[in-house]
Amino acid sequence: MQHSNKLPERAGAGQPVFPALSPGAGTGAGRLVAFMPVEVLGVAWVADIGIDLGTASVLVYMQGKGIVLNEPSVVTIEQRTGKVLAVGEYARTMLGRTPENLITIRPLRDGVIDDFSITEVMLKYFIHKVCRARHLFKPRVVVCIPVDTTSVEKKAVLEAAVRCGAREAYLLEEPRAAALGAGLEIFAPSGNMVVDVGGGTTDIAVLSMGETVVSSSVRVGGDKFDAAIIRYLRKRHNLLIGERTAEVLKIEVGSAFPGSRALSMEVRGRDLVNGLPRSQVIGTEEITSALQDPLSLILKGVHQVLERTPPELAGDIMKKGVVLTGGGAMLDGLHKVISRETGLPAYLAEDPIGCVARGTGKALECLDLLRGTLITGKNLAASY
Ligand SMILES: Nc1ncnc2c1ncn2[C@@H]1O[C@H](COP(=O)(O)OP(=O)(O)OP(=O)(O)O)[C@@H](O)[C@H]1O
Ligand SMILES: [Mg+2]
Repeated sequence: MQHSNKLPERAGAGQPVFPALSPGAGTGAGRLVAFMPVEVLGVAWVADIGIDLGTASVLVYMQGKGIVLNEPSVVTIEQRTGKVLAVGEYARTMLGRTPENLITIRPLRDGVIDDFSITEVMLKYFIHKVCRARHLFKPRVVVCIPVDTTSVEKKAVLEAAVRCGAREAYLLEEPRAAALGAGLEIFAPSGNMVVDVGGGTTDIAVLSMGETVVSSSVRVGGDKFDAAIIRYLRKRHNLLIGERTAEVLKIEVGSAFPGSRALSMEVRGRDLVNGLPRSQVIGTEEITSALQDPLSLILKGVHQVLERTPPELAGDIMKKGVVLTGGGAMLDGLHKVISRETGLPAYLAEDPIGCVARGTGKALECLDLLRGTLITGKNLAASY
């Protein structure tokens, strides 16, 4: 229900939004359920959770339950006071539609954490929502964060998870989570290649024996596809459309591979010549041509990773192919373009959007195997 996403008032920057999330907060009935001892509640769950903290969406995986939360990484704030008014799905409905005193922002952009304090509020909100709904007690938490997150931000994400009640918190890189979630056997002495096309970045990696051997992160993903569509319509048709309209065009009509689809759609926007609302029919071919620049950057990244891949692993990848994950990989024909350009088979993973979250869940299951290679508060402190 929409109104359930509304948050209590934010007291100001740096202040905890949820009294129940701040250390030493009171124990008002109905607020601290998630953090009470098992014996007191009698019904509390002991399960661990994995979080995909993505540019476009946040997914939470719970052991034994699967993906229990999937909401957009969007927050609505009152400009003057900095109060957070809505998070997730409800906030997204306000994108581009807020009055002047409110702004709806995406705290993670281009694959980096753009506004850490808002990211932290959002993270806490989602953890709290999942833990409270499931009466979860002191879970271990694995969080998957954007590749270019700084050490200070990594530390802050780990601390935020612990403040939300996590017994232990770990960070896992996105391509490794994606590969695990796609079901690749990354612990075998054999090469596996994954291309995770998210909203902000495309992470490309070759993995073997549980670790990343070669990788690259390209700052191009679904958001850049949308931006390229907006630019194309502005230039070609003098029509200004919003981000959401561009995303719908990309999903419903767009294709990366010429000739793969032949669809069209009427879109509405503002005429840049006379300033009036106008509609225009746009076809697949136009979207394919609009997407050429961002697509070529992804292909360049894939090429560079293959060039740096040791020959034995390259041989394995020739046999097994490249696996595509992430929502952006669902762009029609993308796997065909990658296959055409590399000469390798390329497949779209099952449920591409859920791969990273499911991968964090798998990481929890094989924590002993991975522990040495995950980021923790301890090994971050040692690296300073
Ligand atoms: N059917 C589809 N066709 C094309 N693009 C799609 C489709 N479904 C979702 N997308 C795009 O997928 C992107 C979001 O993917 P995803 O949820 O994997 O990103 P994220 O993990 O939040 O981002 P990042 O990994 O960069 O932090 C959005 O740009 C969205 O428009
Ligand atoms: Mg992602």
